[in-house]
Amino acid sequence: MPESRVPSPESRPTSRIAVLASGRGTNLQALLDAIADGRLGAGIAGVFSDRPQARALQRVAPTLRWSRDARGYAQRAEFDAELADAVAAVQPDWVVCAGYMRILGDAFIDRFQGRLLNIHPSLLPAWPGLRTHARALEAGDREHGASVHFVTGELDGGPVVAQARIPVLPGDDAASLAARVLEVEHPLLVASVRLAAAGRIAERGATVLLDGHPLFTPLQLGSMP
Ligand code: GRF
Repeated sequence: MPESRVPSPESRPTSRIAVLASGRGTNLQALLDAIADGRLGAGIAGVFSDRPQARALQRVAPTLRWSRDARGYAQRAEFDAELADAVAAVQPDWVVCAGYMRILGDAFIDRFQGRLLNIHPSLLPAWPGLRTHARALEAGDREHGASVHFVTGELDGGPVVAQARIPVLPGDDAASLAARVLEVEHPLLVASVRLAAAGRIAERGATVLLDGHPLFTPLQLGSMP
C-alpha cells in the first residue's frame, strides 16, 4: 500500500460520543477534560437533556446542545422518540448516560443497544434505582462504589463493564458517601469510555466482551487496561 494511504494517527476518525445528562454534569466534565488532555480517543457529538436548565448543557458549545422539558410531554414514548431522533442525527458511535435521571423506553434502548452505556452509583447488582447511597448505609454495607454498564430493558440491570469500589467509613452519611463515590465515578467513566471508543468492549447477551473475550467479573478501576 502506498504510504500516503496509511491513515496517520491525527487523521484517524475518533469515536463520536453522545452524552445524556439531567443535572450538573460533572461526569460529562470528566469526559471533556479527558478529551482536552488527549486521553479519551473520542469527541462529544452532542449533549442531550430532559431538563433545559441542566448545568450539564452549559459545559458544551450551544451547537452541541439538545434539550426538551420532558414534563411537557403527555406520553413517555413521544419524548423518547424525539430524543432518539436527535441522538441518531449526530451519528454517535456510543451513547453514554452520565447522570441521566429519566428511564429510557424500550424503543430508545432497542435503537442504540450495544452502544448504550450508563454510569450508576452503586456496585451493581446491589442497589439499582434511586437513593443508592442511603440504602447502602441502611443495609450496613462496608463497601460501596460505582458501575458502568451496558443499558438493557432492565433498569440498571445490563452487563457491567467496570466498577470502582470505596470503603464505607464510620460516620458516613448519604451526602459524604455520595461525594466520595463521585470522585471515583469520574475516572471510572473516562476509563470505560476510552475502552469503548477504542472498540475494545462489546455487549453479547448478558456478557461483556473485552478484546473479543468474555469478562467473567467486571473490570476494576485501578487495574483497567
Ligand atoms: C452521578 O452520581 C451518577 O452516577 C448519577 O447521578 C449523578 C450525576 O452526577 N446517576 P453529575 O451530573 O455527572 O455531576
